[in-house]
Amino acid sequence: MSQVLIIGADTALEQQFARATDGDLVHLTVEHLEVHGGLLARIEEAGFPNVVVLGQDVALERALQLTQAVDLARPSTSVVIVAEADADLWVTAMRAGVRDVLTPDASLAEITGVLERAEERAQTRLQATIQETSRQPDHRLIVVASPKGGVGKTTVSTNLAVGLAQSGVGSTVLVDLDMQFGDVASALALVPDYTLPDTVHGAASTDPLVLKTFLSRHPTGLYVVAGSDSPASGDAVSAEQVARLLDTLAHEFRHVIVDTAPGLSDHTLVALERATDLVLMSSGDVPGVRGLRKELDVLRELALVPEELHLVLNMTDPSNGLSLADVEKAVGEPLDIVLPRNSSVSLSTNTGVPLLQDSNRDAVSRGLRELLARFLPDTEERSTGLFGRLPFRVGAR
Ligand SMILES: Nc1ncnc2c1ncn2[C@@H]1O[C@H](COP(=O)(O)OP(=O)(O)O)[C@@H](O)[C@H]1O
Ligand SMILES: [Mg+2]
Repeated sequence: MSQVLIIGADTALEQQFARATDGDLVHLTVEHLEVHGGLLARIEEAGFPNVVVLGQDVALERALQLTQAVDLARPSTSVVIVAEADADLWVTAMRAGVRDVLTPDASLAEITGVLERAEERAQTRLQATIQETSRQPDHRLIVVASPKGGVGKTTVSTNLAVGLAQSGVGSTVLVDLDMQFGDVASALALVPDYTLPDTVHGAASTDPLVLKTFLSRHPTGLYVVAGSDSPASGDAVSAEQVARLLDTLAHEFRHVIVDTAPGLSDHTLVALERATDLVLMSSGDVPGVRGLRKELDVLRELALVPEELHLVLNMTDPSNGLSLADVEKAVGEPLDIVLPRNSSVSLSTNTGVPLLQDSNRDAVSRGLRELLARFLPDTEERSTGLFGRLPFRVGAR
């Protein structure tokens, strides 16, 4: 592999880079960006260099767009642009993910500095990848999502979380990513000292031990990252910060459950990028089911459906004229769990005691237990059906 891919730079700068890398570089003209596959393909052909330099022949706006694409697809590659020094430009460039800006007459020392910083970043990134892959083998990151609000995401995520915490199979944390109307704390009768925005700043964002002191503790042993208490401070949390929080939690906990806001916010997308499981929910009416189908299509297009998908239909009502067969046809897949509408749920929401915290026997509790069993190891409970073969399973995947 080459150390550097330099595109559209003038000869003098190319020569400086050649000197700094002992000739270990690939240099191309700006026309090569138009060839099939564009910059990402050129990076691959060059053997994934640590540094990509976009020279002055690449228009600034184009360079910034390309940088964003590289940042997403190849985060360990550092993009450097060449431009006259200008503070405003620096800020814009850094926001777009540019790692360094060089002036056209950059000195050898400046270029060496750029190469060293890029090498360091690539190493750090490698360490992070190693850490990510060294998660516990049975680690699960379960995202509970739905296109619409009020369909039972918080109900399902709090019940799953409490159920997993009580199962004794490893540690469990529940994260409330509904930045606007998060109500996990209230559904668990918790009064948190800290909320999500507190966990993404300062020492909590870098030190897992400090982070743990910012989590709320539920009587079942469950840990909770409570939702933000004001929509404004929730909005100030970036997707990158959420990503870092989830990566740290994934390291520390066997089960990470993520409750989300309706739809596909950036926060939900970064959670899905890390998810092992998606619990995708809808209400049992026609708009709800159509929305479910659409969201599933979008997620498939984005390649963001994790390995395990669990489709849950909630608040079904036999009197609404929609049969389960109709729903499955509209969704295009078998449903995994169907939960009927039942007053036991509102009662549990209002008292802050999830149904699975007690041994309730109503129809929704039975359905929730069946969902929970999908996340437990194949133990006797599961195979001998301690929870019983439930009437709510309407299709197997
Ligand atoms: N199966 C159900 N039967 C009756 N009420 C339900 C059911 N599932 C959820 N609810 C109620 O609907 C409301 C919205 O549920 P919630 O879990 O907060 O949805 P979301 O998180 O998707 O907005 C809550 O008051 C909850 O008690
Ligand atoms: Mg909710």
